Amino acid sequence: MNRDKFGRKINYLRISVTDRCNLRCIYCMPQGGIKLFPHNEILSYEEIIKIAKASSNIGIDTIRITGGEPLIRKNIPYLIEELKKIESIQDIAITTNGILLNKMLPELISAGLKRLNISLDSMKKDRFFEITRQDALFEVLKGIEKSLDAGLYPIKINMVVIKGLNDDEIISFVKLTEKHPLIVRFIEYMPWGSLGKWDEKKIISAKEIRVIIEREFGKILPANINSKGPADNFYINGFKGFVGFISPLSEHFCGRCNRIRLTADGKLRLCLFSQQEIDIKSKLRSGASIEELTSFICNSISLKPEKIDIINHIKNHPREMSQIGG
Ligand code: 5AD
Ligand code: SF4
Repeated sequence: MNRDKFGRKINYLRISVTDRCNLRCIYCMPQGGIKLFPHNEILSYEEIIKIAKASSNIGIDTIRITGGEPLIRKNIPYLIEELKKIESIQDIAITTNGILLNKMLPELISAGLKRLNISLDSMKKDRFFEITRQDALFEVLKGIEKSLDAGLYPIKINMVVIKGLNDDEIISFVKLTEKHPLIVRFIEYMPWGSLGKWDEKKIISAKEIRVIIEREFGKILPANINSKGPADNFYINGFKGFVGFISPLSEHFCGRCNRIRLTADGKLRLCLFSQQEIDIKSKLRSGASIEELTSFICNSISLKPEKIDIINHIKNHPREMSQIGG
């Protein structure tokens, strides 16, 4: 039931709940922000829950809530609670920039959140500001600390590595895994969409990052952790955490792709990179039942491309990353 045409098991749904964000990362949003979806175009929680229920009928068992920045949407703990009630959903996670974690963690945990991903590209105050255009590093670090104290696991830190901008911090990020059970993941920077033109030379491959790490720590060893994402994970002897690499550019991981996406404005995306979108909102708003939505999603999955020429698709992509949710 939950295999696509190419035999891949599709069990993972990423739900973007908003295109808004409280940061303006230079690779993701222009300083003045982007044109936002009008309020009535955004799916309500009731609509999202309906789609999640229908998805669970075709084998989705893992949901990740994304944005923009998901924690700025009102009442996210309510959404988590409701998604948790869906019988076959075993796992709900969130990807956040971490700014609001410090404030919101207790309510997120009571809602049932067990794990999260935090995007962090620099641990230097001035550079954090340069990248995100907000002076908010302290809040993010506090949020990470609180999440660790609360025993959430796994906590993944996602660092987009950009040559000449933050690649000198790779070692400090690896060192986070020495004393803390964090999974630090290095993501190849993708010169995405309209902002991508600014510099393709800034790409640094996972291989290069690995060389930098091994120069400092010696050979890193493959870790057999049951990580659900596209990362290849490793560990350093004696360290509590893990490091991982996400290499959309240098390694084709399409073959093990297990996911589909729902955008905040109600489009199904079968592939992060493809421009193909399926309008599930119209179906929903024309009064479709859960059963009808289930077969709609099932048919959509059959359109998932086998693989895609990533480089060509990220250039001038019509949606910014903040409108997809990563
Ligand atoms: N290249 C790589 N990663 C990106 N992200 C956003 N834009 C890009 C890009 N151009 C990452 C964010 C976050 C996740 C949701 O996607 O940093 O970790
Ligand atoms: Fe916001 Fe994430 Fe985009 Fe940064 S990368 S502006 S945190 S959505």
